Amino acid sequence: MIIAVDGPTASGKGTIAKALAQHFNLPHLDTGLLYRAVGRQAELQGMDPDSSADALAACDFPDALLSDPELRSERTGGLASRVSIHTDVRKALYERQRSFATQAGGAVLDGRDIGTVIAPEAEIKLFVTASVDARAQRRFLEMKQRNDDVTLAAIEEDLRQRDERDRNRTEAPLIPAQDAYIIDTSALNKDDAIQAAIDVAEDVK
Ligand code: C5P
Repeated sequence: MIIAVDGPTASGKGTIAKALAQHFNLPHLDTGLLYRAVGRQAELQGMDPDSSADALAACDFPDALLSDPELRSERTGGLASRVSIHTDVRKALYERQRSFATQAGGAVLDGRDIGTVIAPEAEIKLFVTASVDARAQRRFLEMKQRNDDVTLAAIEEDLRQRDERDRNRTEAPLIPAQDAYIIDTSALNKDDAIQAAIDVAEDVK
């Protein structure tokens, strides 16, 4: 059984994907982390994330980079969204995601194009979304807890820019698969969002 969980940044898709993996006892891949590693590698090597050739070279990052805490930062998220525009980068990361998705026993993957490109045959496809306001609030509280010096307005602006880039790119834009179930988490707390996803998945399974 393949479960695809797509959606914009800070929608709750990562939390939902982890919970589904636990519920169904399946391995989980956060595919955003791969794009973040490419963005970070480009930065470490002094490469240009907006150059297709540079970003492609950065796909050759060492596996150890995947556990670098810096990958979780907003800044690296921004770099990830820039390198992810390039077709060559998406191709270079395809096989790794595809083989994870098709491993024996099934898997849960979260990202932007799992239900549309990586695993269009997934039995369960969720598209997790929430208003910019709700997502910015969540991100803001998260960052305050980490003592990051940020303003709500700056986070909102960053989210809008990233949404715009992810939705309008020609290659694998962020759009729900036709057969995806939309879960809007704007008015849901974490537990309710997880429960809503489990209910859908149990129903479809
Ligand atoms: O999900 P996360 O915020 O970690 O993703 C970082 C960036 O990587 C996204 O803004 C998006 O541009 C890109 N991404 C993508 N396709 C995926 C996962 C992430 O293009 N499957």
